[in-house]
Formats: sequence, structure tokens, C-alpha cells
Amino acid sequence: YRLWNTDPRGGFGPGDDPLYITMPVQLVVADAGTHLSFYDSTWDGRVVLREGEEGAGSGADRPGVSELRMDGGPLRCWVLVGTPSRVLQGWSGLTGAAAVPPEWALGHQHARWGFGSAAEVRRIVAGYRERGLPLAALHLDIDHYDGHRVFTVDGERFPDLPGLARELEGAGVRLVSIVDPAVKVEDGPDAVYAAGRAVGPAGAFVRDAQGQEVRGEVWPGECAYPDFTDPQVRQWWGGLYEERLRQGFAGFWHDMNEPVSFTPAVFADQTLPRSARHALDGAGGDHRAAHNVYGLTMARAGYEGLVRLRPAERPFLFSRSGWAGMQRYGGTWSGDVDTGWEGLRASLALVLGLGLCGVPYSGPDVGGFGGSPEPELFLRWFQLGAYLPLFRTHAALWAGRREPWEFGPEVLEGARAVLAERERLRPYFLSLAHLARRTGAPYVRPLWWGAPEDRALRDCEDAFLLGDSLLVAPVLEPGADRRAVRLPRGRWYDTATGTAYEGPGQVLLDAPPGRIPVLARAGTVLPVRGADGAAALEAWAPATGRTGGGVIARDPGPGFAPAELERLTVRWRDGRVVVEGEDGAELKVQVRGV
Ligand code: NOJ
Repeated sequence: YRLWNTDPRGGFGPGDDPLYITMPVQLVVADAGTHLSFYDSTWDGRVVLREGEEGAGSGADRPGVSELRMDGGPLRCWVLVGTPSRVLQGWSGLTGAAAVPPEWALGHQHARWGFGSAAEVRRIVAGYRERGLPLAALHLDIDHYDGHRVFTVDGERFPDLPGLARELEGAGVRLVSIVDPAVKVEDGPDAVYAAGRAVGPAGAFVRDAQGQEVRGEVWPGECAYPDFTDPQVRQWWGGLYEERLRQGFAGFWHDMNEPVSFTPAVFADQTLPRSARHALDGAGGDHRAAHNVYGLTMARAGYEGLVRLRPAERPFLFSRSGWAGMQRYGGTWSGDVDTGWEGLRASLALVLGLGLCGVPYSGPDVGGFGGSPEPELFLRWFQLGAYLPLFRTHAALWAGRREPWEFGPEVLEGARAVLAERERLRPYFLSLAHLARRTGAPYVRPLWWGAPEDRALRDCEDAFLLGDSLLVAPVLEPGADRRAVRLPRGRWYDTATGTAYEGPGQVLLDAPPGRIPVLARAGTVLPVRGADGAAALEAWAPATGRTGGGVIARDPGPGFAPAELERLTVRWRDGRVVVEGEDGAELKVQVRGV
């Protein structure tokens, strides 16, 4: 693995490396225990992992070998040991607690590069409404900009964006804006570039060792790059989101922040030259040290600006590029994952891996970025996406449609079913978001999370735990109508049929195209939205004679107040399953699995 934030240009598949985010972190889960090592240098580097030497044991007994080379920076390494949950708690203590997204950001979101006008946006939103499909947010890509310039709007194609935003919000749909870091070089009273030149003694933009501004080329043409490693620049940039809020945007999508320049500065590396100078918060240095934290510091600028501008609401921000600690400001997404079954698989691996690196909120471009998925692939992707924190369809300008009704009636009904389930589980997702902030535990966890000693679970990469309560087994290959699911210890209920299975072991579950297998842990309790839309609790019967329970977090509203945690107990009493709060009082709950 190379440790250098890189836009793979046009798309990526499994094994492609490097990608947009660098995490100089290695999590080792072995028979002897779990540990995490963090190589605390932002510089370029390489990690090589090798199978153990022949003769030194066999199979899983062979010790692995890893080698790390950093091109520079301090020789500073942190090691955390313990159970996976302890290690992630320590990691969140070290690099910062994850931002909790607003409630609406846990609903379904729709994006596309190429929404050419307000009329097209209205058509998409109406398409969801007419079919009774829930939609929480719609994302505007660079097409809504005036000449692709950040912090502008094309007034011809979007003549009244604040009006459109109000209209959509009335229908429960938020607008999210893409934000690119590169600023078009131009003068003029309203030009962001001209304003940036006036920041601080030397202007906001990255300069070379001779003091000349470093120029690159991105969508709007010749661009300059704000130096987000300078606190004054962050302050200025954060203030620019005021224009976005005025336009009616509720959330922000940071892109191209590796940062990308289409004209290569060094060999084929499409970024700033290594010699470019950065403030690095007073330490001073060049792009070799600043490159990997460019996206992270941009996220910080945006997040802190939004908190200043709208102090009563948690910002919604997600960023393509980043580094260890980026979770403090928001989440991320897959970037341009290839349309194809391999891309679908890579989507799950990315979300799992990011969670273990401390970034709990992420998700793929459902359908993949660049192609036209066949109906079966689209539905399988949509089903997986519905159980991931960021649930968003997105596609490139040149790619096929992503509206669920564009793939025929079977896909539409399959999508409808998982959309309804996502809505029902929204309080559970929000609870997981608050718990991730409190404990460092990601929403999406590998099956071995609670049993790292189980080798069979360690080998399992095609299913995941969603919090403590659910096990999700997406279909990741074409033509399947059932799939094998490996279960951790304990009793698990198939949520569709109610059938109970005993783990550890493997079961074969029906998975026709309209269905994604999801199991619930016996004795678990989770917050859901009841049929009437009100908050409700769902509990799954513990095995006879056993007790269960769990901790749930209740959202205290859109602000920053910490969530209230509630410890609930699930037990059998007089032949029925009851749920008790901390004071022992019985709570109203829907019991399943009996
Ligand atoms: C690259 C991003 O990864 C993609 O999501 C976006 O649609 C394009 N840039 C255009 O802004």
C-alpha cells in the first residue's frame, strides 16, 4: 500500500492503490490478540504485507510480516492493544471522536453528476414522491456552479436556488452541495480568488519556494489552491459557507481535495509539486508533509466554519480525501468505485476498513460511479447501501440512470422494500452514530468484532455486523438465490422468516433478488420507527433461560448535546419477553422471535 492520497481518475476496482484517503494504521487481529499501530507521520510511505515464511508453521499459524517505509517526518508510533472494541475506543481517544451527522443524513440520498437544471431536480424528487419512495437529500454536483467555480450558482439553470431548496425542504428533502477546493484564478468584485488574495499578509493560496502562487488545472480552468494548513485560511474558507447556507444548502460534499490538478506537476502524479510551501499550523513545510492532510484540514475549515455560522445544528459534511482523525469533521464515501460486481464487493471492504480506521460514517456510490449497472447488480448494491451509514446513489456524467424506477418493476419493488426498512431502522442508525462518537465503535463491524479468536469469522469478508443487534449478509455475486452465512456464537433469527439458528456455524439462507438476508441477535433490543412513525423499541427473544439487552442512544435533537444513553435489559418473565429500563420499569416494546 502506498500512503499518498490519490485520485485514481475515472474509477477504481479491488486492489487498486493508492486511493483518496491515507490511514497509516495497521490493525492486527491474531490468535495472540488484537493491536493497532499508528505511524504518526503525514509523509508519503509504503507498507508491504507478506504471508509468513514457509516452514515457520502452516496456514493461519504462519506469522505475517509487515514492513513500513516512510519518506520523512517524525519516527513516532503509537500502539494500542486490547479487544477490538477497546482498541477502537483508544483510537477515538487519540484521534478524536466522530462527528454525529444530522438525523436526515441517515436517510436515503440521491446524487448525480449532471443534474442540468432546477427542472431536472424537481423531476427526480417528484419521481420519488409519486412512487411513495422516501428521499432525505438530493446532491448537486459541479453542474450547478457558474462555470464550475466553487461558491457560485449558474443563475440560468438554477434561477432561484433558495426557493428550490425551500420547496424541497417542505417535501422533506435537503439539498447537499459539492465543494471543490481549487479556486479559479480571476479578478472581479465577487471572485473568490480575489477575496482569497486579500487574506493575511500573503494571501490564502499555496505558493512555491520563490513566493509564486502554485497553479493547477481543475474543472473551472486555471486554479489556485487554498492552504488549509494555515489557520487564517481556514477561518476565511469557513466563512464562505455562508453563501452556501444562503442558497439553501443543508450539507456539504468535499471533492477533488487530494488535491487534484489535471496538469501533472511531478511525473504522473496529478497533484501539487512537492516543493509547494505550506503553513502547517506554524511549523512550515512543503507539500511532502502537507499533501496527505490537505483534505483533512479542508474538512476542518468547512466544519468549523459551519459551526460558527449555524451553531445550533450539527454540520453534515463528508470528504473524499482525508487522513487519520478526519472523523472529527464528518465522513467520507467510496469515491469513483467501478460499476461491476467487483466494485460492489470493494464497497463493503471500504466501509468496513474505514470504520476500523476510526471513520464510522461512509458508503459507496450505489450502482458504481461510471457505468450502467444491470438491474440485478443495481438492486444488490441498493440493498447493501440501505444497511450502510451513508446510503447514496451517485453516478458520473456519462453513466446510466440511478433512479430505482429506471430498472423495471422488480427492482423498484425490491428497492421499495429496503427503503422502507431503512426508514424503520433510522433511529437505530442514529443511535449507532451517537455510540460511535462515545465509544469509537463503528456502525459497520466485521463479524469477528466480538470474537477475534474465531478464525472462521476472521476469514469472512462478505457479511457484517450492524451495531450489536444485526448481522447483514448482502449478495455480492450474480445469479444467486441463496447464500451461505457464517454466524458468530449465539442464537440468530432470520428477520424475514423468524427462523432461529444457532452459532457458531454456517447456514444457507434464501436470497432471491428481492431479498437481502438480515439476522437479529437473540436477546437484542433496538430503537426503530413504529408503523405510525413514532419512536418504538423492537426486542428479539433471548434463548429460554437467558437474558439479553443493550445500550441505545437517543438523539437529543439537531444540536451538539450529548446523547442520553439507556441501558435496557431483555428477559423472560412469566413466559413472556419483557424489556426493562435502568430503573427496572417495564417498557412498551414489540417482541419478535417468539
Ligand atoms: C469526482 C468525484 O469523485 C465524483 O463523485 C464527482 O461526481 C465528480 N468528481 C464531479 O464533481
